[in-house]
Amino acid sequence: MLRYLLFIVTYCLGIIPFAYLAGQLKGIDVRRHGSGNIGTTNAFRLLGVKLGILVLLGDFLKGAAAAALGYWAFGPWGGIIGGLLAMAGHSWNPLFGFRPSGKGVAAGFGIITVLMPKVMFVAIALFLLVVVVTRYVSMGSVVGALTVAIAVFIFPEPFAYRFFGLVASSIVLFLHRANFQRVLQGTEHRFGDKKNPRD
Ligand code: G3P
Repeated sequence: MLRYLLFIVTYCLGIIPFAYLAGQLKGIDVRRHGSGNIGTTNAFRLLGVKLGILVLLGDFLKGAAAAALGYWAFGPWGGIIGGLLAMAGHSWNPLFGFRPSGKGVAAGFGIITVLMPKVMFVAIALFLLVVVVTRYVSMGSVVGALTVAIAVFIFPEPFAYRFFGLVASSIVLFLHRANFQRVLQGTEHRFGDKKNPRD
């Protein structure tokens, strides 16, 4: 019975707002600048490479730890429930009034690294390809998410992971609605742009 308390831990891991905390170190509220997202990409954009890498590690590890804890206690279904709870805590963070707070990409990569590393390698390869070609991190994330949703059906993954692939990818796509609009309007920030991202 006590094992079920683990899921409270995985949710709490998800709500640690690494991008917000890193921003506070520099006196920058990441919610008010750049895309306003409390996530890795906005941290790189606003806080620079060093803090960006720390946020990436933090977000990645909280997803990975949540999936590992759930898997350890309950197997594949535990892994995905732990992972999804961490993504939910990250993306609709109660510390920020449950408003959309992060897009779940780095945490999602942490989850699939633990649960389905082959899928992760294919998704990260396509993510990087799209980012290098378009310089839109958001579009890399969208393609990465779609890749996960397809790859879980190509590789011999358990049903639980296929379920995760569909649900998590839908969440990531849903949370990128504003990015799609900005890409269409030509106002999406491109990786490496000189323009001050805090404008
Ligand atoms: O991982 C999030 C990324 O895909 C988009 O972030 O800050 O450009 O909305 P952002």
